[in-house]
Amino acid sequence: MNAIIQKIKDLKKKRKAVILVHNYQLPEVQNIADFLGDSLGLSQKAAETEAEVIVFCGVHFMAETASILCPEKVVLIPDINAGCPMADMINVEGLRDLKKKHPDAVVVAYVNTTAEVKAESDVCCTSANAVKIVNSLSAQKIIFIPDKYLGQYVASQIHPVRNKAPETTALPKARISNGTSKKIIFWEGYCPIHARILADEILRAKREHPFAEVLVHPECTPDVIALADKVFSTTGMLNYAKETKSKEIIIGTEEGIIYRLDKENPDKKFFPASGRAICENMKKNSLEKVLWSLEEMKHEIKVEEMIRQKARKTIDRMLEYSRVD
Ligand code: 13P
Ligand code: SF4
Repeated sequence: MNAIIQKIKDLKKKRKAVILVHNYQLPEVQNIADFLGDSLGLSQKAAETEAEVIVFCGVHFMAETASILCPEKVVLIPDINAGCPMADMINVEGLRDLKKKHPDAVVVAYVNTTAEVKAESDVCCTSANAVKIVNSLSAQKIIFIPDKYLGQYVASQIHPVRNKAPETTALPKARISNGTSKKIIFWEGYCPIHARILADEILRAKREHPFAEVLVHPECTPDVIALADKVFSTTGMLNYAKETKSKEIIIGTEEGIIYRLDKENPDKKFFPASGRAICENMKKNSLEKVLWSLEEMKHEIKVEEMIRQKARKTIDRMLEYSRVD
């Protein structure tokens, strides 16, 4: 066995650590995962793990979410510069200004946001549960941040207002109303990696593989989503790829997921919709950096306590709402 992998295993035992890995990480990093998943699955795992140390192989907001959920644990990210450009497209000042313009709106924050922005929001969501979360809200007016494309996709999927919010961490009553339709206000944010996937590329892939199904991530632009057969989070794609009878599938998301799709479905063929959908930030966590991270216990991600408590409520609401049927 590779010497680095053996050292990681030994140190993991010594530190009582768990390695959580996002589906876009490098193949060799995916291979050392204790748990491999999407943003929702990874935050659920972080919330329930009994390990003392979490090595988070993903981008900064993901490690920060783990730290918000597990303040008593040491949360490490192997490369401190692995950020998410979309998360940096909104800040607290901008959100406060928008809230002032729409004081009656409930703020739904995509998990791809900083802890400060989450703390200023009402409920969090991921790509796996965004439609469900927005549908669970009885509010008529929603500010959806920061991904306008995910927001637009959610808007196309919602049904009229109903009262389904669980009681325990319910939103302030004054901000809940019982109308029949929802108005969604978007933020001008987007994922620069998913925006690289073009509708023309999907059309070309469909011409080249006429029997293939097209799966895309909801961070894609609306014209790309309109050409898709299904829209899924990364884990949603992985689950569907196992179930479907299709033997050929065109994948409209970051290319790192293809490694796992190929590995789990040797009888099927996966074609990336675009050769340019590579998230450079996701690729910053190498195997060596995972090892150094465990050796030197760095880079620790901590969130200031007041912010953490507020952001925690926003994430807890998401975890609760996503359990409601
Ligand atoms: P998932 O939650 O679907 O894995 O997506 C995370 C992400 O950053 C997509 O760009
Ligand atoms: Fe952020 Fe897009 Fe990279 Fe996901 S793929 S981490 S949203 S930049």
